[in-house]
Amino acid sequence: MADKVREVIDEFGGKHEFREGLEGVIAALSTIGSIDGEKGILLYRGIPIEQLAEHSTFEETTYFLLNGRLPKRQELTAFEKKLKSRREVPPAALDLIRTFPTTANAMDLVRTTVSALGLYDSDPKNNMLEKNVERAIDLIAAFPTIVAAIQRRRSGKEFVAPRQDLGHAANFLYMVNGEAPTDYVAKVMDVALILHADHGFNASTFTSRVVISSKSDMYSAITAAVGSLKGPLHGGANSEVMSTLQSIGSIDKVEAYVMDRLAKKEKVMGFGHRVYHTYDPRARILSQYSQQLAQQTGNMKWYDMSKKIEEIMVRELGEKGIYPNVDFYSATVYYYMGLDQELFTPIFAVSRIAGWTAHVIEQLQNNRLFRPRAVYSGEKNVPYVPIDKR
Ligand code: CMC
Repeated sequence: MADKVREVIDEFGGKHEFREGLEGVIAALSTIGSIDGEKGILLYRGIPIEQLAEHSTFEETTYFLLNGRLPKRQELTAFEKKLKSRREVPPAALDLIRTFPTTANAMDLVRTTVSALGLYDSDPKNNMLEKNVERAIDLIAAFPTIVAAIQRRRSGKEFVAPRQDLGHAANFLYMVNGEAPTDYVAKVMDVALILHADHGFNASTFTSRVVISSKSDMYSAITAAVGSLKGPLHGGANSEVMSTLQSIGSIDKVEAYVMDRLAKKEKVMGFGHRVYHTYDPRARILSQYSQQLAQQTGNMKWYDMSKKIEEIMVRELGEKGIYPNVDFYSATVYYYMGLDQELFTPIFAVSRIAGWTAHVIEQLQNNRLFRPRAVYSGEKNVPYVPIDKR
């Protein structure tokens, strides 16, 4: 970190620390998530992620993130019912998806559809707490429907309407594939959704908070967050991991691939993290599911290759704190579930919408505009040259 922090004295006379990429900067107080990057601990509102992955559901975790406490049984039942009742999205949004080019990037389609949803909110400027909580539930319920419709559009298939008798994860897979998943596959998707739901001030969440801090609206904040998540250094990494595995092709080529990339100072996707300098706890859980799915499908290849990449990366860069992150094993988990690679990052959004909306709501509770500064490092007093003298 040292070489990425420089002390500068700017033109306003004060001493300031310049931290590239805002590394190590504390930008708000939050009670939503907490990460211990040295010990590899992730908590949602105080509860370790391992406990939520084992005992909770995405619906319950979502309630917890939005409300700050676990629901009682009747509250959870009512919340699940509410989510189910809001799975249908405005028909105009589905009509819009039907007009999209089938070759476009799936995350671009998600971004544009979310933006369009804001046009069908009768009171989009209303940022009252109660209104935004209801809007958050609308969006959390709508994201699976939107992402599934986008995937169906991209593969030239008719949309599948949501089913009321399935849970959030199972219904999502049903709308993507046109058939309900097995209980096991639905459980794996549910765990993946729990694990991706929040992660502190990651780039997309911070983006959403920056947008709402100008007292804009939730749709604008979430649209911007989707745009941020898309990038390969963030949520886009899960799809890149699968491309990496496919381009390597077989386990005997892994060592040469990794060593060649490191020699060229190129990144290996799915490794490294701004906050974790040890194993990402989400990757540990997903690695186990990847192994189980590999065994169940009788196709160990992708899991074995992943393990080999991990072994070499930890051998070479473990001392530097480079370990697998969440995107490394989610890639093979989704692949083994038969999901299209283009869908991997949109699935991240289906989950992270819970964290984004919780953060947007939290930001508005104690809002102050985000407005950092840059030190001007260009020339000064440059004379204006008339156009015909340039
Ligand atoms: N492969 C090889 N070297 C790496 C990697 C990697 N994946 N990640 C970091 N390093 C090295 C990097 O080369 C640098 O070395 P040096 O100090 O010798 O120049 C050092 O570690 C610090 O890297 P950095 O890029 O300055 O670290 P950062 O905190 O700015 O970036 C990161 C964090 C996640 C963008 C980066 O680790 C990366 O690009 N990883 C690959 C993409 C990826 O998997 N992204 C998913 C992130 S986790 C889930 C999410 O948020 O979506």
